[in-house]
Amino acid sequence: MNADGRTIDPSAVSPRERYQLITSLVVPRPIGWISTYGEDGTPNLAPFSYFAALSSSPMLVGVSIGHRQGIPKDTLSNVRARGAFAVNVVCERLLEPMNASSADVPAGVDEFLLAGLESARCASVDAPHVVDCPAVLECVVEKEVPLAEAPNTLVIGRVMRVLLAAGVTSLAGSLEIDPASLRPVGRLSGAQYGLLGEIRTIPRPG
Ligand SMILES: Cc1cc2nc3c(=O)[nH]c(=O)nc-3n(C[C@H](O)[C@H](O)[C@H](O)COP(=O)(O)O)c2cc1C
Repeated sequence: MNADGRTIDPSAVSPRERYQLITSLVVPRPIGWISTYGEDGTPNLAPFSYFAALSSSPMLVGVSIGHRQGIPKDTLSNVRARGAFAVNVVCERLLEPMNASSADVPAGVDEFLLAGLESARCASVDAPHVVDCPAVLECVVEKEVPLAEAPNTLVIGRVMRVLLAAGVTSLAGSLEIDPASLRPVGRLSGAQYGLLGEIRTIPRPG
């Protein structure tokens, strides 16, 4: 780094600034669009960009879910009650419904309806999924991990089944999904999202 750069000590800035820094520097982030059932059976849907693939054998994903005024968000309560969730891959044409599903609404409100989306029960786990999504990971909860003093909980899910819509294609002779057929969206900071641009293929050295 050159001499006119800046050094920032996270402990010397405000919580809001720490949020701004981490969410604008760890980019683009995949969006785990998480669907669950509430204890009373209400379908729930919300996006989470503190989301990552953690391992492939077994297939594990992690989502970090916050609290709202000290109370767990509905997704976390539902995941605890049902032990399952689905991850719906967000593609370009679902960007607006994904955003609509992030509305801060009471637990009894079905965000599928709010976002104009159809839900269907997953076959392998006790959760709904977005019917119109190009790809879905059906997960059971593997583990919950508290994150130090953060008001977030990391939920690790084990993928039990993968759904791929017609039109989602694999690269020849593999299960590597062609990004051009998936059209994934990544979250940048705040309300900014990155869409698929030029795709470069760079073989590994050696
Ligand atoms: C693109 C996007 C990413 C988000 N990522 C997260 C996240 O990683 N963690 C979190 O707690 N909230 C995140 N939110 C906010 C939640 O989606 C929002 O609080 C939602 O209302 C939670 O719904 P629930 O109470 O039904 O679980 C995100 C919102 C958007 C639009």
